[in-house]
Formats: sequence, structure tokens, C-alpha cells
Amino acid sequence: MKVLDSLATSKKTSSVIDVQGVWKKFRIYHERNQSLKEIILRGKRADYEELWALKDVSFSIPQGMTLGIVGENGSGKSTLLKILARILKPNKGSFVVNGKVSALLELGAGFHPELTGRENIYLNGSILGLSQREIRDRFDEIVEFSELERFIDTPVKSYSSGMYLRLGFAVAVSVDPDVLLIDEILAVGDEAFQRKCSDKIFDFKNRGKTIVLVSHGLEAVRSICDEAIWLHEGEIQARDEARKVVDLYLNKVNEEEQQRAGRGGEEQHLGTRVGSREVEITKVAFCDLDGKERDCFQTGQGFVVRIYYRAHQSIDKPVFGVAIYRSDGTHVTGPNTRLHRLEIETVSGEGCVEYVVDSLPLLPGTYLFSAAIYDYACLHPYDHHEKMYTFRILPSGEEEFYGVVQIPCAWRHVKEKP
Ligand SMILES: Nc1ncnc2c1ncn2[C@@H]1O[C@H](COP(=O)(O)OP(=O)(O)O)[C@@H](O)[C@H]1O
Ligand SMILES: [Mg+2]
Repeated sequence: MKVLDSLATSKKTSSVIDVQGVWKKFRIYHERNQSLKEIILRGKRADYEELWALKDVSFSIPQGMTLGIVGENGSGKSTLLKILARILKPNKGSFVVNGKVSALLELGAGFHPELTGRENIYLNGSILGLSQREIRDRFDEIVEFSELERFIDTPVKSYSSGMYLRLGFAVAVSVDPDVLLIDEILAVGDEAFQRKCSDKIFDFKNRGKTIVLVSHGLEAVRSICDEAIWLHEGEIQARDEARKVVDLYLNKVNEEEQQRAGRGGEEQHLGTRVGSREVEITKVAFCDLDGKERDCFQTGQGFVVRIYYRAHQSIDKPVFGVAIYRSDGTHVTGPNTRLHRLEIETVSGEGCVEYVVDSLPLLPGTYLFSAAIYDYACLHPYDHHEKMYTFRILPSGEEEFYGVVQIPCAWRHVKEKP
């Protein structure tokens, strides 16, 4: 990787984390019911497969950088973090981490279930290198941050996953580390606590700490991280500005989703068809602004629908219309060429009419789509395909959460009445 090499050399002196050619292998054991005969014949041999969870991973992180790691489940993100936290040893390769490390890894890792929250704070604090006194000094702050005052003398085995997380995060940040490793915490817990966590992460960032953040929350990676790595099947697929890596990764996920959705979906004509068919709709295609056909989009993306027609005779002043419905039946919109003052004088033979939306305001979900050709009065259908097509809006993490659409808007804080 060229980019990596140059980064590694130019920032060598100030690298806080430097990983060189790290490989990590796991053994996956298969439980086989061996018959007595087999055991006698072959002995009770272990039956396992080897799996390389990390393959030749190299990168370095300069002091003060927040690096995101994205990738699908099983791509090796947690394994990489565990190696940096020295919980796992690589099979090959080397790495250095300079400074005091604090890690918040998988949920509840490092907690003893039978011990109370209080006891676990002491246990974890000392694992992270704090003295008894330091823990005592910070104890109240930790409890306050975790919001677990009422449960601090309860064994943690009765905690919910959100409570585990709060305690873990509170302890991890209390040690004031130079390097903070965080695995998937922003995905759990309520919104208020997530905000508190990201505030804390920003606070660390501002104080020049180095952070490695594994997150499914791509918007968090985009907004918190400076750069990001995309891991795919244990290999680094890309390393660049966080924004760019997230986009690359999303594109890939989109493509796969489309392939999955596309198979057998093509001729899936739901809905109903009515009309006299002097002019027919021969195909309806959803495309992006580059003209590439797709069934999955994201909020804010360009959206072009091509309505291909064949006119068996010359038809004057036809009106082309479309409609979008959410999967629950809500009619979202229903524009047509006449409303938008596109006068089509006449159609004969084959052609195509495009419905173009520069920035799709729809929020994630499945949508049904109708396309139709009517006479100028919009009373007589030549060909009306009612809810015969579907497309999907996939979440990007960037869109609003509530409602059906995202309406372009601006916010202003007006201190005095204008
Ligand atoms: N302790 C383990 N034993 C066997 N296989 C493991 C172990 N930990 C992880 N793996 C495997 O290694 C791969 C990477 O896992 P992981 O690092 O947890 O991925 P991610 O965090 O990106 O979802 C997966 O295929 C996973 O099943
Ligand atoms: Mg993981």
C-alpha cells in the first residue's frame, strides 16, 4: 500500500501506534459425533479449520489522530483491537503502542460477574494501571459518569448490557490514557449516553489523545474520526480520510444489497395494470444520476426513473405520471408531466421519459412505485402500472430518524426578536 508506506515513513517519529505485517490465526473446532468405531480406528483426533482473522495488516497512527475502523461482521476489527490492547498475540508481525493504553472492548470484557459494580471499578482500575488511591480519588466521578449510583453495590451479573457499557466506558476514560481503544460502544446504550460518550471522545480528541474507534455507526466514524481503515476479510481494503473510506465502504455494501435484492426481483410484477395500451410502458428503470440502474438508494442521492414506452399509433399530448408509496401505503407523492409543464406534443414508436430528482428526500424504507401514461385530461389511462415496482432507501446514518421525508431546511438561533 503506497499511501500507507509514505504515511509510515513521514510520521515515523511521531507514530503512537505502529503495526507491521500482523497476521492472526484462529482455530475453529468442529464438533463431530464420532462413532466408537471411528474413535478406535483413528483415535480421537481434533478436527479443526484454521482461519486467518488478520492478514498482513500494517498501518501507523500519528499522535493525536482519531482513526476509525469499519468493515462487515467478522472482518477482524475486534481482533485487531484486542491485539493492540495486548489481549491477543499476533502469529506473525510486530506492533508498538506508545503510551498508556485504555481499552473498552467487547461488552463486559474484564468484568467479574459475581462482584459488585464498586468492586469491579477497583478491579478494572488496577488492571488499567491505577493505584488504589487513584481509584479512590476518581471513584465518585466514575460512578457519576456511569449513572449507576443506585446499583453500584449490586453484582454486575444483574446489570443490563447498557449498564455494563456505562460502567466500562466510565472506567476506561477515567484512567486518562494516551491511547484509547474503543470497540462498538456507540451502538449500544440509549441516545443520551451515546451523546455523553461522543462528548467524552471529542474531549479526548481535543486534548491530543490518540483514539482507535471501531463502529458500525458510520456517521460517528465520519464525524469523529480523522482517517479510517476499511477491513475486509482480515485485510486492509482502504485507508484514507474517514469520509472517503466510509463512502467507499457504503458503496460496496450498497452493491451487495442490490445484488441480493436484484436476483429474481426483475420480473417481480406486483400491483395492477390497466389501460387501453395504444401506447405502452415497456420498462421502468431506477437509475442514479450517472444513469446506472439500481434498486437501492440513500437519502439525498440523485434519483432518475426512466419510463420506456412504445406507441403503436401516434398519440397526441400524452401525460406521463408517477407515484411513490411507502410500504405501509402512505402516498408520498404523485407528480406528472402536465403539472410540471412538460408538454409532450406527440409520441410515436419508442422512446423514454425521465423523472429526475436531484436529491431524494425519502428516509430509509421500502417504497412502491407506479408509472402511468394518460390522455391530456388525465381521465383515460393508456397504460397504468399501479405499484408494480419497488425500490429501497438504505440507511446511511446521515439521514434524519423520524418521519417519512427529510425536508431541506436551515436552523437559525435568533437571540433577539427580528
Ligand atoms: N476467539 C476466537 N476463536 C475463533 N475464531 C475467532 C475468535 N475471535 C474471532 N474469531 C473469528 O475471526 C474473525 C474476525 O472476528 P472479529 O475480529 O471479531 O471481527 P469483527 O469485530 O470485525 O466482527 C471472524 O471470522 C471470527 O469468527
Ligand atoms: Mg467485533
